[in-house]
Amino acid sequence: MGKDVIVACDFASAEQVFAFLDRFTGEKKPFVKIGMELYYAQGPAIVREIKARGHKIFLDLKLHDIPNTVKKAMSVLRDLDVDICNLHAAGTKAMMEAALEGLTRPDGTRPRLIAVTQLTSTDQTSMETELLIPQPIDEVVLHYAKNARDAGLDGVVCSPLEAGKVHDVCGAQFLTVTPGVRFAGGDVGDQKRIMTPEQAKAIGSDYIVVGRPITAAEDPVAAYERCVREFVD
Ligand code: C5P
Repeated sequence: MGKDVIVACDFASAEQVFAFLDRFTGEKKPFVKIGMELYYAQGPAIVREIKARGHKIFLDLKLHDIPNTVKKAMSVLRDLDVDICNLHAAGTKAMMEAALEGLTRPDGTRPRLIAVTQLTSTDQTSMETELLIPQPIDEVVLHYAKNARDAGLDGVVCSPLEAGKVHDVCGAQFLTVTPGVRFAGGDVGDQKRIMTPEQAKAIGSDYIVVGRPITAAEDPVAAYERCVREFVD
């Protein structure tokens, strides 16, 4: 898998997703992120339907439970034939290793598995006062990324601002999947630490996850193509 733009399809209903995806009539079908909202509302059928339309899929369910439960859940997800799925690195290396076992098919193939390090909604204060983690958040993110790499995972979800450091510490092959992307001069919305597609490319992100700059654009296909031009081409 090379560099690509993943479109966060944060819609509440199947109708809305399909109305959105129907706009993409060109040869290149966007790589699609399906999150909890859509998955819990529509179930695995939505994954199969989008896959059948020829899209690659990042299933963003962020699993976090005891190793045995995560292993079993992953063995269900592997049969959905998604391209990337994820979990929380905070679940420990044992959980991540169990997840990989569950995800691996009898023929040895499996979807890519990436880890969430610290959610971007968690800040230094909440880490220190609620989670009782005193270290600087950047160090925690890199340490969790190393744990994920040591457990055999393929990469992490991180801010594009962290992608360079993650590659330095975990190697160039370790994937960085980065949300928080906005066009130059575009609406920032609730994202705080942002980069343009060009900047994300320059710093070495492997995949950018882009939602509203594409889904809420007047011309989503043009916005998607702009993203691909700036990030991939
Ligand atoms: O609309 P926007 O481009 O902000 O969407 C970004 C997507 O990436 C959303 O689906 C959001 O939940 C997800 N995400 C994020 N920040 C993270 C992890 C995931 O924005 N740290």
